[in-house]
Amino acid sequence: MISKETIDEIYSAAQIEEVVADFVPLKRRGQNWVGVCPFHNDKNPSMYVSPRLGIFNCFVCHTGGNAVNFVMKHEQISYPEALRYLAKKYGINIVEDTRSEDLTDEEKLKESLLAVNKFAEQYFIDQLLHTEEGQSVGLSYFKERGFTQQTIEKFKLGYCPDGWDKFTQEALKNGYQLEHLIMTGLTKKAESGKVFDFYRGRVIFPIYDKLGKPVGFGGRILKKDEKIAKYFNSPESPIYHKSNVLYGFYQAQRTIKSKDNVYLVEGYTDVLSMVQAGIENVVATSGTAFPDGQIRLLKSKTNNVTVLRDGDRAGINAALKDINILLGNGFNVNVVMLPDGEDPDSFAQSHRDSEITDYLHDNADSFILFKAKVMAAEAGNDPAKRATMVKDIIQSIALIQDDITRQLYIKELAKLFGIEEKVLTVELRKNIVKTLKENAKKESGQEVEIHTPAGEKVSSNDTTITDIDPLTSIEEKIILLLLNYGAYEINAELDKKDGQIQCQQIRLDQYIFNEFTEEEISFKQPLFQKIYEEYAETATKVSLQDDIKKVFVNHENSVIQQYAIERLMEKEIGISPEWLRRFEVSTENVKNSCNKLNEEVYHCIMLFKYRIIEHYAKYLYEELGKEHSEKITNQILQKYDKLNKRESEIAKLINLVIVK
Ligand code: CTP
Ligand code: MN
Repeated sequence: MISKETIDEIYSAAQIEEVVADFVPLKRRGQNWVGVCPFHNDKNPSMYVSPRLGIFNCFVCHTGGNAVNFVMKHEQISYPEALRYLAKKYGINIVEDTRSEDLTDEEKLKESLLAVNKFAEQYFIDQLLHTEEGQSVGLSYFKERGFTQQTIEKFKLGYCPDGWDKFTQEALKNGYQLEHLIMTGLTKKAESGKVFDFYRGRVIFPIYDKLGKPVGFGGRILKKDEKIAKYFNSPESPIYHKSNVLYGFYQAQRTIKSKDNVYLVEGYTDVLSMVQAGIENVVATSGTAFPDGQIRLLKSKTNNVTVLRDGDRAGINAALKDINILLGNGFNVNVVMLPDGEDPDSFAQSHRDSEITDYLHDNADSFILFKAKVMAAEAGNDPAKRATMVKDIIQSIALIQDDITRQLYIKELAKLFGIEEKVLTVELRKNIVKTLKENAKKESGQEVEIHTPAGEKVSSNDTTITDIDPLTSIEEKIILLLLNYGAYEINAELDKKDGQIQCQQIRLDQYIFNEFTEEEISFKQPLFQKIYEEYAETATKVSLQDDIKKVFVNHENSVIQQYAIERLMEKEIGISPEWLRRFEVSTENVKNSCNKLNEEVYHCIMLFKYRIIEHYAKYLYEELGKEHSEKITNQILQKYDKLNKRESEIAKLINLVIVK
């Protein structure tokens, strides 16, 4: 466990804008920063970052939080992992408490499995480099395939000796449990009950997650044997989820970001040879069809992918499939075709570095050009076939979400085939509406009619609250006054018992507390009541308004946290309600705004009382309509009368026009 002191140090060192900027380009806007939100598909800068409050918030998908929250969400990692990431970024030395009993059973299991994998990783490296068998069999194989010492070290390649259970015995001797060895797939159990090394006699490619932890292994057979699979891979386990991992990503991520592009290749050796040739922004997809987790990994570094598949029919088909999935996920897609019969590994090994770079540069086609080239070869001059081909390409373009990008591709297509843009646009619209309908049908389970000539996506579940009841809205006003100005001094007019009015300097929150206690009132909305109670407790410990805000935007209750982030950020960037903005205290008009604050607080409290009475009166009125004994009915009537009187008194005090 990371010690409390270290956690505090990390929190105070982490600058939200620096942390976010590592993943998302930010632009300055006043005291704040804005960027395109990475948590939903967007092209507009809807995410705001406030250095003063140490938070970020997206006003479209409503994702917000502090620096640690951002790293957790963006990198899809746990709290301690995010802390470690930030500690590394800010050069903070992590001090551990030895309270491992704090870990859940699942976390403990994961740690054990990871420890097993770390042991195996080192064991396989030692075998490869420092044993006779490893050197003569494994190392010489790698050398034969042209991999340098540097590549072998960078990717921590290894070798598993060709015994029956040499590795397993060594692991058991070192105290690792058989159960864990089996869960990670390093050890298998035969039907006879005998255990053996899964990777025996194979060279090893460790597979890392994005933080560099060895979560799995690939092992390649060395002999030519058609009957046994060329590669063995780790099974899914609590630490290894294939859909969240891309081979080479850990080593490539920095370059992917700096080049703002990633090459997608098929296999382990493709990655190795490309990197050795100086192309470092490359990852292998190992035959998967881009599950969400992989898409997120790539998206966190770039929007641009270059598909680099084998130069054969299978490679072309793979690329065609890749294109549509990647376009649908908002990537800009280019394709490089290799000469027939080559894969990236063989190509890289048989050419000079400069030739490779030139080839990749000269042969990167937009997906349109690639599709056109592939299909033109088949369609020839047959007009019907050529029309089918154009329609096929438009289907791909329709998958792109951004309007402008779509239009640019239509332009390219029009030029390429000498067809009028207008004609293509009509066909494009048809496709977009079709996709929209399909999506809507998928979401709602029923047929939906959509009228969108421009092809905008229509969302059916708009979450904006349009009809807030008056009581809730005044409750919220009071909460916002507390969060934004609770620690400010106001001039309260205190109504003394003898009817004399006295002015008193008092903190805004204190004034509200007094009123609430005196009148024994509370919030009807549970969230607001909770915030109010937390506020009361916080105010006894911290007294600066910004510090109070920070308590709430870092609150452990995520509902409270997100509520505070959203509302406070609104004010930071000036989209809060007008009444709230009026009090912005600039040095010249402290007095002025303070007066306004007095009035507003007074007005709010009165209105709140009025709304509560109104609420209660409504309830009594309903009761009157029901069957009660005469005595009860009279009591209700009396109460109702009293409430009505009080209601109009307050209404008069605050000049409220009552519409009934
Ligand atoms: N693969 C696998 N299991 C197999 C075959 C392939 O997991 N039985 C995955 C591996 O990640 C492999 C990739 O698919 O790297 C591509 O397969 P293939 O082209 O057959 O292998 P190469 O990468 O070309 O491997 P090598 O160059 O060593 O022959
Ligand atoms: Mn291959």
